[in-house]
Amino acid sequence: MDKATTQRIERLVEYISGFDDIQGFVAEAIRAVPRHQFIPDVALATPGDPDQAFIIDRETDPDTWWDTVYSRTPIVTQLDDGDTDIRTRVGAYTSSSSAPSTVAYFLQLLDPEPDDQVLEVGTGTGWTAALLAHLAGPHGSVTSIEIDKIVAEQAAKNLAAAGVRPHVIVGDGADGCPQRAPYDRVHITCGIRTVPYTWIEQCRPGGVVVAPYCPGFGDDHALRLVTLPDGTAIGRFPGYASYMMMRSQRPAPYAPDDGGGRRHPTRVHPRTIGLAPPGADLAMAAITGLYAHISREETRFLTYVLNPADPSQWAVGIHQRGNPDHTVYQMGDRPLWEEVTEAYFRWVGWGEPGRDRFGMTVTPEGQHVWLDTPDHLIGG
Ligand SMILES: C[S@@+](CC[C@H](N)C(=O)[O-])C[C@H]1O[C@@H](n2cnc3c(N)ncnc32)[C@H](O)[C@@H]1O
Repeated sequence: MDKATTQRIERLVEYISGFDDIQGFVAEAIRAVPRHQFIPDVALATPGDPDQAFIIDRETDPDTWWDTVYSRTPIVTQLDDGDTDIRTRVGAYTSSSSAPSTVAYFLQLLDPEPDDQVLEVGTGTGWTAALLAHLAGPHGSVTSIEIDKIVAEQAAKNLAAAGVRPHVIVGDGADGCPQRAPYDRVHITCGIRTVPYTWIEQCRPGGVVVAPYCPGFGDDHALRLVTLPDGTAIGRFPGYASYMMMRSQRPAPYAPDDGGGRRHPTRVHPRTIGLAPPGADLAMAAITGLYAHISREETRFLTYVLNPADPSQWAVGIHQRGNPDHTVYQMGDRPLWEEVTEAYFRWVGWGEPGRDRFGMTVTPEGQHVWLDTPDHLIGG
């Protein structure tokens, strides 16, 4: 490797190490498995809001390409499941090389050991699979599942060029890969609302499953579960995570506006719900099973609440600048606005617990979120 690349890698390792207090084994893997081997010549760098996204092109502007690859930036490699050319920059982000600090953070949570049998869901560019293969060593094994055939084929090429050959499978990662189970570690690199029980079933007792838990209420959360001999798993939400959703768990498309439905005033400012902190997000999602998002307009702040099981049911709380009275529109029988505000105030009543006080238990029957101890269940 040339000196300039080595320096870039060192700067990245230095940044990551300071940012998340990353341990030595992760830094060493990032040095050993250079990210540039997994980034296409043309890709979309996404340092922040979508309007800041820019194309990197190795041929026409190699300096920007190299600087971006060794920066903190997530790099999107596919739009709209491959239906839209990446150069247009506009579309849903559906495959990427995640931000290096996020990759490092999840590897630290997963804590793979030499000789481990590892399952990854969401091969993407193949970089994480290569890092896992490095950490599992020559006597371990990595199975990586990618739902998109073209993405998987490119990842397999990247991996072969980098001299690593984890087992890459095209398929739905929700099914895991029973043929190669049991696993010591299961690493999910796409967002989920529901933990498929197959991952727990295919993990040996004492194994670790990490996943971005994205119930769709404001923040997303890193989830780290440990499997138990009775076939269940239990764990907590140690920190923040943001990932693109697993295909089968993407929220249904919605197109609500404030032009219809039942109209009534609300004493609760829509911002109270829409900008609630992560602990409240976890509680509201678990208690109600709903999801929410906000919209900031020139003169309005809107908090939408939606039912993933029935897109015809939704509510929107609206704050109009300069107006101290707030309005709610609701469609469908279910009083979604009342449900989320009630859940929010339950959370306030518990003393506003932070994300780290919540946990999850997964059984063959489903998942349950709890507060402080596994016997204090608050919802699914
Ligand atoms: C953020 S990218 C993964 C990044 C990747 N680990 C890397 O190191 O480059 C998420 C990937 O998950 C894939 N994916 C989405 N749903 C999936 C599913 N049900 N099964 C397997 N892969 C899935 C997407 O196609 C996408 O490539």
